[in-house]
Amino acid sequence: MGAGKSTLGEALAAKLGRPFVDVDCEIEREEPIARIFETGGEPAFRLRESEHVRGALSSDTASVIALGGGAVGTDQIRSALRKRALTLLVEIEPGEAWRRVGGSDRPLAQDEAAFRTLYDQRRPLYEDAADARAQDVDGAVLAAGGIHVETGSLERLDELIPGDGPVELVSDARVAGIYGMEVQLALGARAHASHELAPGEQAKSVESLEALWHALRLERGGTLVALGGGCTTDAAGFAAATYLRGIDWVAVPTTLVGQVDAAIGGKTAIDLPDGKNLIGAFHWPVRTVIDPATLETLPEAELENGRAEVVKTGLLTGEPLWELPVHGQVHRCAAFKTAVCLRDPHDRGERAQLNLGHTFAHALEAAARFELPHGRAVALGLLAALRLSGVDTAAVEETLRPEPVRVDRDLAWAALARDKKVVGGVPRLVLLEAPGRPRLGVELPAAEVRAALDSLIAG
Ligand SMILES: NC(=O)c1ccc[n+]([C@@H]2O[C@H](COP(=O)([O-])OP(=O)(O)OC[C@H]3O[C@@H](n4cnc5c(N)ncnc54)[C@H](O)[C@@H]3O)[C@@H](O)[C@H]2O)c1
Ligand SMILES: [Zn+2]
Repeated sequence: MGAGKSTLGEALAAKLGRPFVDVDCEIEREEPIARIFETGGEPAFRLRESEHVRGALSSDTASVIALGGGAVGTDQIRSALRKRALTLLVEIEPGEAWRRVGGSDRPLAQDEAAFRTLYDQRRPLYEDAADARAQDVDGAVLAAGGIHVETGSLERLDELIPGDGPVELVSDARVAGIYGMEVQLALGARAHASHELAPGEQAKSVESLEALWHALRLERGGTLVALGGGCTTDAAGFAAATYLRGIDWVAVPTTLVGQVDAAIGGKTAIDLPDGKNLIGAFHWPVRTVIDPATLETLPEAELENGRAEVVKTGLLTGEPLWELPVHGQVHRCAAFKTAVCLRDPHDRGERAQLNLGHTFAHALEAAARFELPHGRAVALGLLAALRLSGVDTAAVEETLRPEPVRVDRDLAWAALARDKKVVGGVPRLVLLEAPGRPRLGVELPAAEVRAALDSLIAG
């Protein structure tokens, strides 16, 4: 009571594009709650509440439901929650809760001592019913996406991997060398085997996948854990999507790119010689465990790649996220991408906004035969997108310091024209109305797009 469930629930529903059901409001609409208490007492109210909660949970449309504070005291509600819901505990101190609701017209908030006793009685029920905890909308979105952001979480990986079945670990040699032992220790007896992928993009080859398929020994109930950057999570996630027609996997991203982008959203992929990410599957990990402390060992050049995605996200949200400490950057960017992907899990609509700057970036990378770091390409791509949008480029220039690259102009233009987002020869771009207001599918005259691309190329 007083934790702000209704306010948070409504905001969460809006973020996820889901209906919102506030159980107390629904009941109140039928009959004033105070009157139900007067005539039938608390049992009458609990019965009514249980019907509403179970009704909302049995609907085909998943919704965000704000439960009344005492709802988890009812057995039927608890078992319905276990079967049908992800239950978030919104924590609040009893003193603060009393300040918010004490003496209001709520029947159970009339006397402070009784209120505190009730809080103590309910506390264990809340703990027991909760699948995760959240204090704000970002936290609730992350929980809904199965994403756990916590410094030091690597050490308690075992608790964070759902179930208690066997686990096989996949990483590359470098990450295994730094974190392999710690993770093996954390997993204890659950760790059945570990596998090493080739470094970088080579991990995402058909040969590398084939070797991994052969090496895996997990059965259907096992969990594959991908520990590393985007190359590891993309390749291992695709192995999990395909092995035995799909097994559970947990992403443990250790690069900034992975923590703000690659390990979120359920896209897994490998490359073909013809192009990147041409083979893949949507296969959302059962949990993503983000430990921002792992970024401490990440080389500066890799951090820079991630910073470009942070700036991209800040332009999409309209907030200078790049000014936050790195933990805050991870939290906010991960929450933003999670919400977009939960609204559009199969990339059929608004998820396209995540391509801001990327049409140009991919063209430059292809023209540079992938010798150009992704972050440098994205920095340039963002610059072009902002110029075409007529939006101030200062943030990109100051934060990412993009420098024109030396690539063949015709090659870059040809690569841009081959981009997946090209429809009928005209590239469709993501631009900004203003920071925080993306415009999708913008078609501009080819000459204008080519001039923007040319401005990114030196010499
Ligand atoms: N699935 C998606 O939605 C998505 C989104 C964005 C990018 N991606 C993919 O991600 C890939 C790029 O990922 P990346 O930039 O993380 O590259 P990466 O996985 O190659 O990692 C970069 C390097 O950092 C090392 N490393 C990783 N964590 C470390 C740590 N904590 N300390 C020290 N070294 C560490 C790795 O060994 C590697 O050498 C690309 O293939 C891209 O296509 C996928
Ligand atoms: Zn990118």
